[in-house]
Amino acid sequence: MSTAVVSRTAGKRWWWFLWGLLALGALATAAVFVPPYLVGGTTVPGLDRITPGYYTSLVIHAVPAGIALVTGPWQFIPRLRTRYPRLHRVTGRVYLVAVVVASLAAVYSSAVTKSGFALQVAFFVLIVAWLHTAAKAYTSIRRREVRMHRIWMIRNYALTFAAVTLRLYQLPLIALMNSVTWLEYREVYTTSAWLSLLGNVLVAEYFIVHRFLEGRREAPASTA
Ligand code: HEM
Repeated sequence: MSTAVVSRTAGKRWWWFLWGLLALGALATAAVFVPPYLVGGTTVPGLDRITPGYYTSLVIHAVPAGIALVTGPWQFIPRLRTRYPRLHRVTGRVYLVAVVVASLAAVYSSAVTKSGFALQVAFFVLIVAWLHTAAKAYTSIRRREVRMHRIWMIRNYALTFAAVTLRLYQLPLIALMNSVTWLEYREVYTTSAWLSLLGNVLVAEYFIVHRFLEGRREAPASTA
C-alpha cells in the first residue's frame, strides 16, 4: 500500500472518529436539556418563572435549537449527500428554519435574562452570527456555489454546537465553585458562553482553512 493510501485511510478514520464525537455530543445535549421544556420543566435550578414570556421564549428556542443540533451532523456525511440529495435538501431546510426560529426566540430570552450584560453580549453576538451564517449558507447554495455552501454550513454548525461546548466548559468550572468561594454560577455561565463561542469559531476556521488548502493542492479546479 502506498504512503498516500495509508494516510488517506488514517485521515478517514480520524474524520469518522471526530464526526462520532460531534454526533454523540449533539444527541446527548439535545436529549438531556430539551425534553424537560416539552413538559413544562427545566434542568436549570431556580430558573426565572416570573418574567413574562421568558419561559415560553425558552421553549420556542430550545425545541428547534435541539432539532438543529440533532439534524446537523448527518448533513456533513458525503455519502448521504450524494446518494440521497433530496433528503439532504429537505433536512437542510428543516435545519435552517429551526435555526431561524430558535435565534428569534433567543432575542427575547437574551434581552430579559437576569444573567448579566457580559452574557447578553455573548448571546447577541451568537444570534447575529447564527443568522448571518445561515443566510450565507442558503444564498450560496441557491447560486450553486457548493464549496461556499459547505464552508458557511461548517461555520453555522460550529455556532449551533456552542450549546454542547458551553455545557462541557461548565462542568469543570462548576466543580471549581466548591473550592473558589467567590466564584458564582453567573460567572461560570458567562465564561463558558464566551469560551464556547470563541473556541468553536477558531476550530471551525482552522478546519476550513485546512480543508480548503488541501482541496486546492489536490484538485485546483474542483468546485465542491
Ligand atoms: C448558537 C446559538 C444559540 C443562542 C444565541 C442561544 C441563546 C440562548 C439564551 C439567550 C438562552 C437563555 C439563557 C438565559 O436566560 O440565561 C438559552 C437557553 C437555552 N438554550 Fe440556547 N442558544 C443557542 C443555541 C442552542 C442550541 C443549539 C440548543 C440545543 C440544545 C440550545 C438549548 C437551550 C436550552 C435547553 C436552554 C434553556 C436553559 C437550559 O435548560 O440549559 N440553545 N439559549
